[in-house]
Amino acid sequence: GSAPMIAPSILSADFANLGAEAEAVAGSGTNRADWLHVDVMDAHFVPNLTLGLPVVESLLKATDIPLDCHLMIEDPGRWAPPYAEAGAYNVTFHAEATDDPVAVARDVRAAGAKAGLSIKPGTPLEPYLQILRDFDTLLIMSVEPGFGGQQFIPEVLAKARAIRKFIDSEDLRLLVEIDGGINADTIEQAAEAGIDCFVAGSAVYGAADPGAAVGALRAQAAA
Ligand code: DX5
Ligand code: ZN
Repeated sequence: GSAPMIAPSILSADFANLGAEAEAVAGSGTNRADWLHVDVMDAHFVPNLTLGLPVVESLLKATDIPLDCHLMIEDPGRWAPPYAEAGAYNVTFHAEATDDPVAVARDVRAAGAKAGLSIKPGTPLEPYLQILRDFDTLLIMSVEPGFGGQQFIPEVLAKARAIRKFIDSEDLRLLVEIDGGINADTIEQAAEAGIDCFVAGSAVYGAADPGAAVGALRAQAAA
């Protein structure tokens, strides 16, 4: 496959300095992040509150890194398309939050972004296999969504292996992302399971040199 992608999550960044924190992973060469992962939480779908559209609009002005918006919110049919209209590169919403994920994906794509589907650790993949053609990314949660700095749940790797097989057999164009507890101790097993893009919050922004941490994670995933 192609080089592993790294998407640092600004959930672990200093929220008073988001522009500078985005730049901290915008280095060059192998230390450059592919996407900046932006965790949107509404205190309803998950028990935490982070940021919303106005902050994303400001980030879009502050950095050139494509924004990978992860919407942990209720009613994505209403709230997801505006992130696409604003200029987010990828807009991911949760399968558990809507009865009609295909309609939401269609609206996100019509508004000019890639569409992503996310599933929580306990959500099975099977009910969604037949709609994956309507999506550009699948985000497998490897912690319960809501907070950074949690422990990786290795049981989700079975879903990663299953989707990798399905993608290959059906010849799908779908990037598989994993999110939660990705660090130097866990990224290799996720890479082995067939993940394309690795979200890392605390492992990047908790490091003394966030840019170097991006490069080190990518090298580990490629090994
Ligand atoms: C959790 C968020 C993650 C979080 C990951 O709900 O979706 O993106 O920032 O943080 P770490 O890498 O610290 O587990
Ligand atoms: Zn996330």
